[in-house]
Amino acid sequence: MKDVKLEDIVSLAKRRGFVFQSSEIYGGLAGFYDYGPLGVELANNLKREWWDAVVKESENIYGLDSAIIQNPKLWEASGHVAGFNDPLVDCKNCGARHRADHLAGTDSTDIKELTKLLKDKACPTCGKKTLTEPRYYNMMMKTWVGPVEDESAVAYLRPETAGPMFTNFKNVQETMRAKLPFGIAQIGKAFRNEISPRDFIFRVRELEQMEMQYFIRPDDQKKVYEDWRQFAWDFLTKRIGIDEKNLSWHEHGNDERAHYAAAAHDIYFKFPFGDKELWGTHNRTDFDLGNHIKASGKDLQYGDEEGKERFTPYVIESSVGVGRMFLAVLTNAYHEEEINGETRVVLKLDPRIAPVKVAVFPLLKNKPELVKKAREVYEMLKKEYGNVMWDDNGNIGKRYRRQDEIGTPYCVTIDFDTLEDVTVTIRSRDTTKQERVKIEKLQASIKL
Ligand code: GAP
Repeated sequence: MKDVKLEDIVSLAKRRGFVFQSSEIYGGLAGFYDYGPLGVELANNLKREWWDAVVKESENIYGLDSAIIQNPKLWEASGHVAGFNDPLVDCKNCGARHRADHLAGTDSTDIKELTKLLKDKACPTCGKKTLTEPRYYNMMMKTWVGPVEDESAVAYLRPETAGPMFTNFKNVQETMRAKLPFGIAQIGKAFRNEISPRDFIFRVRELEQMEMQYFIRPDDQKKVYEDWRQFAWDFLTKRIGIDEKNLSWHEHGNDERAHYAAAAHDIYFKFPFGDKELWGTHNRTDFDLGNHIKASGKDLQYGDEEGKERFTPYVIESSVGVGRMFLAVLTNAYHEEEINGETRVVLKLDPRIAPVKVAVFPLLKNKPELVKKAREVYEMLKKEYGNVMWDDNGNIGKRYRRQDEIGTPYCVTIDFDTLEDVTVTIRSRDTTKQERVKIEKLQASIKL
């Protein structure tokens, strides 16, 4: 099979209503995207699978939906205002800005090392050797709260969903009467003023994260860290159908880890532009709770009911971007195949996350009795699966291709025989095999 190209994914995403450039009619805005009708279904399915696996199927992980804007003191205490930085270089000739580590082709963000690596580098925009020395640049997105736009009104759009899970530690623990270990999970938007958003939805300025903070006794950190690494791997491979051969581990070096992490392992996915970070597992130790205790003066320690123990819990974090998972899933599923001398584009999505589950086709749209029967089948399936598509346009082969391209696992055709013997043709996306089944047995043939 040929390698998947990013332009194929971008073109399919646009053509079939998965992802659009935001404010496209005004030329778009770098780092912002809109999810279309099929995209929102796919993204919702990924979020639902993650929420089920993390929250619903566990006994001790609780959900949260916090505000995007918090008291700015939260982000001062978390170290983001001072330390959420990426290295950048400016071009003195053309004014372009570039991520220094990307330009140097390294994962390191160490300024000394980057200065060395970029010494003779030319600006990729104008080709001149006129780059400044690398320096740090803060990625927090700022706004003002209230009518006066001065320093005292500055607030930040959260750069990660994690922060409010720490400040709500006590609220959740007390209201749920939770004992260690327990977790808090949330799915939501985060904002980063990325220097160079790129690679479609891979690196954006408005992103959505699925994050879980697991509060533990410090002694358990090694085991729990390994458990959550395994969880991420299993989720990707067993729950949403990503092929293991597209995944690898990457352990962060000392000069690469975020300011809060004592250890970090990423799962890399083989994206069309290279092996890149998809999902991070971090040991955040007592960094966040400890800093919030200091900055707020509030007691965020854990004490057991008997009053024997009192300490600041450690935290193991599991963090993944919805958009990155979306792009990984599309890349993993994208196939071009030769069938009967024709090329078909097919998204081999796990049926659980496919945006459309079944498509229903009346063989001909100008035969009222066929259309009537097909509508009955459509209504029946819609009641059961929700995401069912109706298509009465063009020949059946073309209709199959349209569904293959968006990953619909099954197509059902109603023809003249249906009127005689109450059977329909059900066709599988992956095998392209067609089978004749009784309408009453249809659901048994649909395996989602
Ligand atoms: N709370 C930890 C945290 O935010 P991170 O490694 O900065 O850690 C976690 O981000 C995940 O969020 C990444 O693994 C990636 O999936 C996603 N992510 C981060 N920055 C992103 C961006 N600019 N665009 C899209 N996704 C991003």
